[in-house]
Amino acid sequence: MEIRLGSVEELRAEGCRVVEVEGRPVGVVSVGEEFFAIHDRCPHMGASMCAGSVGGTLLASAPHTLVYGMDGEVIRCPWHGWEFDLRSGRSLLEPDRVGLRTYRVSERDGDVVLHT
Ligand code: FES
Repeated sequence: MEIRLGSVEELRAEGCRVVEVEGRPVGVVSVGEEFFAIHDRCPHMGASMCAGSVGGTLLASAPHTLVYGMDGEVIRCPWHGWEFDLRSGRSLLEPDRVGLRTYRVSERDGDVVLHT
């Protein structure tokens, strides 16, 4: 199923929009030239992920060295800071155990389309 969500311009201006898909909240996140869609409830205690922030994170690196990376690819929960990879939906801390469902999004004729 495909759902037209609105114009690319509108969704870029909003940054993140929550839509209901098959009874579930889905956050559509605009980052640069891309859109990502994720389940909008944090698996920890249910915060809206759209109320969180998008950025990068500190990556595994050499001892006593902090390396910032994945800029624009990480969404951070607003309540307790759990971080998720926007592309895969997987938790950065426990990727094998915790994650957010992701949805494919595309652009068509100036609109953003969500695929279920
Ligand atoms: S509700 Fe998201 S980290 Fe706690």
